[in-house]
Amino acid sequence: MRHLLKLIDLNDDDITDILNLADQLKYEKKNNLSKKYLEGKKLGMIFQKSSTRTRVSFEAGMYELGGHALFLSANDLQIGRGEPIQDTARVLSRYLDGIMIRTYEQEEVEALARYGSIPVINGLTDFEHPCQVLADLMTIREFKGSLEGLKICYIGDGNNMANSLIAGAVKTKMNISIACPKGYEPDADIMKWAADNSNFICTTDILKAAKDADVLYTDVWASMGQESEAQIRKSVFKSFQINDDVVAVAKPDVMVLHCLPAHRNEEITDKVFEEHAKEIFEQAENRLHVQKAVMVLLMKDDDA
Ligand code: CP
Ligand code: NVA
Repeated sequence: MRHLLKLIDLNDDDITDILNLADQLKYEKKNNLSKKYLEGKKLGMIFQKSSTRTRVSFEAGMYELGGHALFLSANDLQIGRGEPIQDTARVLSRYLDGIMIRTYEQEEVEALARYGSIPVINGLTDFEHPCQVLADLMTIREFKGSLEGLKICYIGDGNNMANSLIAGAVKTKMNISIACPKGYEPDADIMKWAADNSNFICTTDILKAAKDADVLYTDVWASMGQESEAQIRKSVFKSFQINDDVVAVAKPDVMVLHCLPAHRNEEITDKVFEEHAKEIFEQAENRLHVQKAVMVLLMKDDDA
């Protein structure tokens, strides 16, 4: 693994290696055994969109590993004034040891990796959010013991989260069902790949998707960049909510996850959110551990 651009690119062993190392780093941190695996390394963090978790967990994670993270708002970089990504990639590669980027187009992340000579990590694009789903898989494994054979049901928009969850679930041999309104399905190529490799379903029937689920998952109805569609989406997605009726058809010990930020009483009721806060905030914490694992695997010197 040279970069983390999309979850769909990773092989099953890459995912297992990341999750195992994330568990180890979490254990080391909780037991005051942390080591500075990335002493002196520098990570540039380019943000074209807002962030709480991604920014803070990468910055804190890099600090804990003995390295340094630089917050680079795209508006303040020359990218914001039109400097091409291929030039930015070649320049930043001469100063830094890795780049994390949050942006709109997946192609920008791919171009950064293609033209630069250092590892690139996708911190969310319109197409995928691989770091989030790695933290989700870590959390599910932590609560359920293993992943294979579990059923995860995602209710809501067929967005970046849905695309990455499908990739992550199929690669770890979970069963995944998606419930979304017609016209708001996940990426067509990812759905076709999932249908060819698993018993994947995508339906408008929420209760069918949620039946006997081990994990229920949702995300906002309007993602970053879709603010102008927020009103119309509120009516389209009205019934695509995790609430007591949905929880009732899932397994009795169902976990409920949300990548956050959450809009209470839109995609999830306040009641269900608070009843499952334990899982949801462990999931948020696990961003830190899993991203530290990704950075160590991508950036550590062989002798460190
Ligand atoms: N889940 C997530 O990526 O959160 P932020 O947008 O706050 O980084
Ligand atoms: N789908 C959301 C995820 C936020 C973490 C967005 O892209 O805004």
